Formats: sequence, C-alpha cells, structure tokens
Amino acid sequence: MSEQDQIFMKNFALLIAGLAVFTVVVILTAIQLNKLTSRPDNPDKVAALEARIAPVGSVYAGETGAAARAAAEAAAAEAAPKLAFDGSTDGSLIYNNVCAACHTSGVAGSPKLERAAWEPRLAQGIDTLVQHAIEGYQGDAGLMPARGGRMDLSDEQVRVTVQWMVDQLQ
Ligand code: HEC
Repeated sequence: MSEQDQIFMKNFALLIAGLAVFTVVVILTAIQLNKLTSRPDNPDKVAALEARIAPVGSVYAGETGAAARAAAEAAAAEAAPKLAFDGSTDGSLIYNNVCAACHTSGVAGSPKLERAAWEPRLAQGIDTLVQHAIEGYQGDAGLMPARGGRMDLSDEQVRVTVQWMVDQLQ
C-alpha cells in the first residue's frame, strides 16, 4: 500500500466513524423529540374504550337513587302482566265475579253447586276438573269456556276456585 493509500484509508475510516456517531445522535434526538410530542387521542378509540370499560350497572345514591329506583319499579310493574283481582287467591271472590254467572243459575248446562250434579265429575279427580277449567271443556252438558272466559286468571287462581266450588257442594 502506498503512502497515499494509507492517508486515504485513514481519512475514510474517520469519515465512517463520524457518520456512525452522527447516526447515533440523530436516533437519540428522534427518540427525545418523540417523547416530547403529544398527539391527540383518536376520539373514536376513546369512545370505544370508555364503552368497553363502563360499569355494567349505574350507581345512583340519595335522592336521584330513590327517584331512579321508583321509576324502574313503576316500569317493571307496568310491564308485568296484570292478574285478575290483583292476583287474589280467594276462591269465593273469583267464583262470585266470574263463575257464578253460569254455575249458580245452571245456564247453558253448567252444573250448579249441587253434589248430585258433580258426583260423576268429581270421579275424574280434582286435577282433571282444574285442567278442564283452565283449558276449557266441551262436555255433553255444554261448553265450559277456558278460565271461565277470564284469561287474566292464573292457573293457581283457577285451581283455588275449583277447589272452593268443590268444597261448597252439598
Ligand atoms: C259461560 C258459562 C260458564 C262460566 C262463566 C264458567 N263455567 Fe264452568 N262450566 C260451564 C259448563 C256449561 C260446564 C259443563 C261442561 C260439560 O260438562 O258439558 C262447566 C263445567 C265446569 C267444571 C267441570 C268440568 C268437568 O270436567 O266436568 C268445572 C270444574 C268448572 N266448570 C269450573 C269453572 C270455574 C272455576 C269457572 C270460573 C273461573 C267457571 N267454571 C266459569 C259453564 C261455565
């Protein structure tokens, strides 16, 4: 290697080293600048995140809480199906309001509350009588409408009423 080549190699090595240092400095500066810059968050992302971490229920306290609960209870009561006679299971009350129209007068073949008229029916068992009263029943005597025509009577209400009727037989 000539002397000139050696000088070239030395300068060239210095240049490479200098460029390497410059590269490192640029990288470090870029990292610092990146830390200093604040970027606004994407509003869509923020909304999505808030929806994702939102609590399942809302918490109300004090007066707003009482008002919110009253409103929720009123809405639930409104949505719930209403039972006839406020859900009463008083057989005589239901009988007198719904069933008596037919079963006291014996109109259209309905059996009156007399043991003789019920003896063969009782032989079917109380469960069958209840089922016939709930679903309706076409017999030889006539047509017993389902739930006496009051579809807002619950199965339980019909059951206590049939039981009450059977208890009245004499
Ligand atoms: C529109 C008239 C009518 C009303 C209202 C009515 N029934 Fe009847 N019910 C009948 C008739 C008619 C029969 C007889 C059906 C037959 O055996 O042919 C009968 C029969 C029955 C039987 C006997 C069923 C059987 O298997 O023998 C029961 C129990 C009964 N009714 C319960 C009730 C109850 C409880 C109510 C009130 C919720 C009611 N009924 C309201 C007309 C009525």
